[in-house]
Amino acid sequence: MKRKLKSNVYWVGKMDWELTRFHGNEYSTHRGSSYNAFLIEEEKVVLVDTVWAPFSKEFVDNLKQEIDLSRIDYVIANHAEVDHSGALPELMQYLPDVPIYCTANGVKSLKGQYHKEWNFKIVKTGDTLDLGGGKQLVFIEAPMLHWPDSMFTYLTGDNILFSNDAFGQHYASEYLFNDLVDQDELYTEAIKYYANILTPFSALVTRKIQEIFALGVPVDMIAASHGVIWRDKPLQIAEKYLEWADAYQENRIAIIYDTMWGGTRRLADAIAKGIQGADPEVDVRLFNAAQRDKNDIITEIFRSKTVVLGSPTINRGILTSMAALIEEVTGLKFRSKRAAAFGTYGWSGESVPNLNTYLKKAGFELINEGLITLWEPDDRILKQAEEFGKDIARASSV
Ligand code: FEO
Repeated sequence: MKRKLKSNVYWVGKMDWELTRFHGNEYSTHRGSSYNAFLIEEEKVVLVDTVWAPFSKEFVDNLKQEIDLSRIDYVIANHAEVDHSGALPELMQYLPDVPIYCTANGVKSLKGQYHKEWNFKIVKTGDTLDLGGGKQLVFIEAPMLHWPDSMFTYLTGDNILFSNDAFGQHYASEYLFNDLVDQDELYTEAIKYYANILTPFSALVTRKIQEIFALGVPVDMIAASHGVIWRDKPLQIAEKYLEWADAYQENRIAIIYDTMWGGTRRLADAIAKGIQGADPEVDVRLFNAAQRDKNDIITEIFRSKTVVLGSPTINRGILTSMAALIEEVTGLKFRSKRAAAFGTYGWSGESVPNLNTYLKKAGFELINEGLITLWEPDDRILKQAEEFGKDIARASSV
C-alpha cells in the first residue's frame, strides 16, 4: 500500500524486516532495511527508484494496485545499484518506451547489469523535468555518494530531496518518518551506515552538502532510499554528515583483538586497565574481532580517537578475523586516528610488525612500535602491558 509523504508524493517501496546481511555478507543489518521508492502524481506521473530484485514482482504487483502503470510518464533512477534498480526489468516490461532519467554513469551501470536498451535520458546537475502544476524535478549529480552514477533529485514546490543512498540507514520501520522512531536506534543505524559506507568519500560528502546549502533552496524532507524519511528538521542529518565527514572522533579508545589461548586477551585487559588508570575520562572498549560483529567494530573505530589492535602470531602472520577487519578498514580511509599494536607469540613473533605495517598502510598514526610478548603473560608482562596502555592514553590525549 502506498504511504503519503506530502501533497501528491507517496512511498511505494519495500520494508525488508528479514534482511540480516547486505552487500552479500559484507554489512550486518540488525534492524532490517527498506528499499524506498516514490511515486509522484502531478500532471506528470513519476516513479523515483525501485526495489531490490527479489522483491521486483511484489513491487510491480503492489504498484499496479495503486496506479494504472500506463499513467507513469517518467522513471528516475537515482542510482543503479541492484537494491534500487532491481525491479526495473520487471517494471519495464509494462513501460517499454517510458524514459528512464539517470546520469551517464547510470546508463553504463544499468546496461551493464540488465543488458537492455531502455529509453535512457542522461541528465546532469541543474537539468530539470517539468511535472506540470508549477512543479519541477531538478537533478543533482552526486558522484561517489556512494557510486560514480549516484544522483539526487529535488522536487520543487514540495521541497523534497530524493537523496538515494546518502542520508540513509539500514533500518526497517513501519513508522516511516524520523520523528516517530526510537531516536537512539535511528542514530545508531545512521552513524553505522556513514562509518561503513561513506567514510572513504568524506571530502565529496562535505562538498556536495555545501553545494546544496549554497543553493539556498528549502528542504522540507530528505527522502533517502533506505530507512526513514527525514521530515522533522530534515537538515539535521546533513549537518551530522558534515560533522562525521570532518575526521570525526569521540573521546574513545577501541581495543580490538583476537586470541588463540587467551594470552593476547589478557594483554588487552591489562592495556585497558592502563588506559583507564591514566585517563579515567576516556571511554575504553574491548572487542574480540572473531566474536563481535565486524560492522559494529568498524563503527566503534569510526567513533574512536585511537585504536589498539592485537593478535598472536600464527604462521608468521595474524589471525584471520584481524586480517579481514584491517582489509576493510584500509579501504575506508579513516583520517586523523592514532593506533598501536600488541600480541603474544611463542616462536617467531611477526604479528605486531605485521599489524604495524597494516596500520600504517591504512593511514593510522602509530603511537609506538607496539608491544610483543613471549609465551603466556605473567604478572611482570601484564604490568608492562598496563604501562603500554598508559602510554597510549597519554599519547591520545594530546
Ligand atoms: Fe542502496 Fe548503493 O545502494
